[in-house]
Amino acid sequence: MILKVFFAIINLMEKEDNLMEKIVSLCKRRGFIFQSSEIYGGAAAAYDYGPLGVELKNNLKRLWWEEMVKTRENVVGLDAAIFMHPRVWQASGHLAEFTDLLQECKKCHHRFREKDLPDSKCPMCGGELTKPRAFNLMFETYLGPVKDEASRIFLRPETAQGIYVDYKSVQNAMRLKPPFGIAQIGKAFRNEITPGNFTFRTVEFEQMEMQFFIDPKEDKKWFNYWRKERLKWYLENLGLKKENIRFYKHKRKELAHYAKEAVDIEYKMPFGWQEIEGIHNRTDFDLKAHEKLSGKDLKYYNKEAEKKFIPYIIETSGGVDRAALAIFLDAYTEEEVRGKKRVVMKFKPQLAPFKVAVLPLLSNRKKLTEKAREIYEDLKNCYHSWYDEAGSIGRRYRRQDEVGTPYAITIDFDTLKDDTVTVRDRDTMVQERVKIGELRDYLFKKLM
Ligand code: GAP
Repeated sequence: MILKVFFAIINLMEKEDNLMEKIVSLCKRRGFIFQSSEIYGGAAAAYDYGPLGVELKNNLKRLWWEEMVKTRENVVGLDAAIFMHPRVWQASGHLAEFTDLLQECKKCHHRFREKDLPDSKCPMCGGELTKPRAFNLMFETYLGPVKDEASRIFLRPETAQGIYVDYKSVQNAMRLKPPFGIAQIGKAFRNEITPGNFTFRTVEFEQMEMQFFIDPKEDKKWFNYWRKERLKWYLENLGLKKENIRFYKHKRKELAHYAKEAVDIEYKMPFGWQEIEGIHNRTDFDLKAHEKLSGKDLKYYNKEAEKKFIPYIIETSGGVDRAALAIFLDAYTEEEVRGKKRVVMKFKPQLAPFKVAVLPLLSNRKKLTEKAREIYEDLKNCYHSWYDEAGSIGRRYRRQDEVGTPYAITIDFDTLKDDTVTVRDRDTMVQERVKIGELRDYLFKKLM
């Protein structure tokens, strides 16, 4: 019995490892994600989004922006610079506190984060480990020609600080009253000790963050509100499976230096439950610190109540790359069709890089290709469409399945007689005959 359980666990672990390998391979083969600088052997922990990856990532960011900014009267957008005054990081506490404890094996020289080590022996070779030492995760560089302490600046490790230092200008310009939010999407950089698991932990990544400025008395209410809103977004807007998503509440000793309360939204990755977004009650920690160091008044003045206060901040902080990885893992499906394996990426249509593929049945029949081009030229103005005539129709369907195109339109000999086409549904493979003149409306109903 014990052996049976043991082998079942090993089997499951191999299967899950396998899934990650399959995703990495599909991402490269189909143009979603490539290792950065691959021709030079690859840059560690940095990735490039290829032609399909960039489309999916843009769709993901657009859905976030629509949810957080466009459909909310009291949330506005911002695009702050990556380079900031070095004192920002002094005030925010990142210079002193944004560290991981690092341990190195004295024998094989592998480095580990202390929190990832199960015991005091090296997991790679069993060697002895050095004592933990603090390692700051911020990348440093120098502004201007002289490299000295005065010109030292940092690449931002979170986009949030750009919002905090601009909060008064935004509030004044837009005449906002708490509760209100400022949202932005942008790159962040961390010199991670142990990057890995493909795009899960990298040194350069994108965050989608929203900072919600509130009356301190209402922090519990808004923390709970945003916790629920964010979970709903992953489930309903991105369509991730319920069984793969959960909350994780931080214990007191796990809280970041700025947080009074924090909850992670976790995704069940093949390597365990992992954070994809954090929701934090940052209190007035950041604004107070910036007020003190900059000497500028960062209080909000409520004229009606004749009351001045530093707002508390509830932060929602998601990783674009981690959400994209969750989308890939969630969408990956293998099915058996007439004895053959079919791989389908069942992306939500709003996330799919291409919405429609236009396929002439045969590539060597001019009348078919001409008609197919005509349809493609018309549809491409409405939906991101892919014209493809290379290879057999079966192969082309499989290619579109693997990149997750929801609908494939085939132009065949009947099209030339009656102006109809077949529309193949990616998930069910059911084909319907649709009049060309009705295609746009038909797709609109299906895709929206
Ligand atoms: N402003 C708060 C903040 O940055 P965080 O929990 O450190 O909080 C927020 O990061 C999100 O950023 C994470 O949930 C994750 O999705 C993403 N993230 C953080 N470090 C990352 C890394 N090294 N690689 C990829 N994504 C990362």
